[in-house]
Amino acid sequence: MPFKQIAVEDYLVNAVTLFRDTWGLLTAGTPEKCNTMTVSWGMLGELWGEDAAMVFVRPQRHTKLFLDANESFTLNFLPKGKEGKRVHGICGVQSGRDTDKIALAGLTPQPLEDTVCFARAETVILCRKLAAQGFDPACFLSDIPHAMYPEKDYHTLYVGKIEQILVQVNN
Ligand SMILES: Cc1cc2nc3c(=O)[nH]c(=O)nc-3n(C[C@H](O)[C@H](O)[C@H](O)COP(=O)(O)O)c2cc1C
Repeated sequence: MPFKQIAVEDYLVNAVTLFRDTWGLLTAGTPEKCNTMTVSWGMLGELWGEDAAMVFVRPQRHTKLFLDANESFTLNFLPKGKEGKRVHGICGVQSGRDTDKIALAGLTPQPLEDTVCFARAETVILCRKLAAQGFDPACFLSDIPHAMYPEKDYHTLYVGKIEQILVQVNN
């Protein structure tokens, strides 16, 4: 389905529930060679004078290789409902390291600038990486390491400048 670009000002979503409840497909690479994974931890806001998105990726994710090797990434939000949950049931559980989960999930990669998005997304946020920083266990001021990182697989935080927000034209 075709997309139209909208201004950040016209993107009227609750960023907390977007990540918490809808979940996104964090995607990097090219249509020919890409990977995607479900994310429910993320943020939209303002940093360094830029409209920005932040995502958090554990070191063992295959998608991390694609994030690190490319300048851009996309966050793809599918329409709410059963079909979206089915896709996330694949992309949030299986690894692109050993399955063609994009095909399995029935997603169609399509080019977007120097990166890739999914034709079925209701909304796509295209980001250019500004920073990547692995969490240092010494930085935590709470019980987070004990609760969240028994394997010491601390997330890397990626900050991306929001370059485009695309929505389906029929929305
Ligand atoms: C609801 C949900 C949310 C998730 N959120 C994150 C996240 O924010 N960061 C992360 O590193 N993994 C997250 N995951 C786990 C990855 O999506 C999952 O490990 C995936 O299979 C990784 O695929 P890959 O190895 O192809 O990158 C989440 C999984 C689910 C089901």
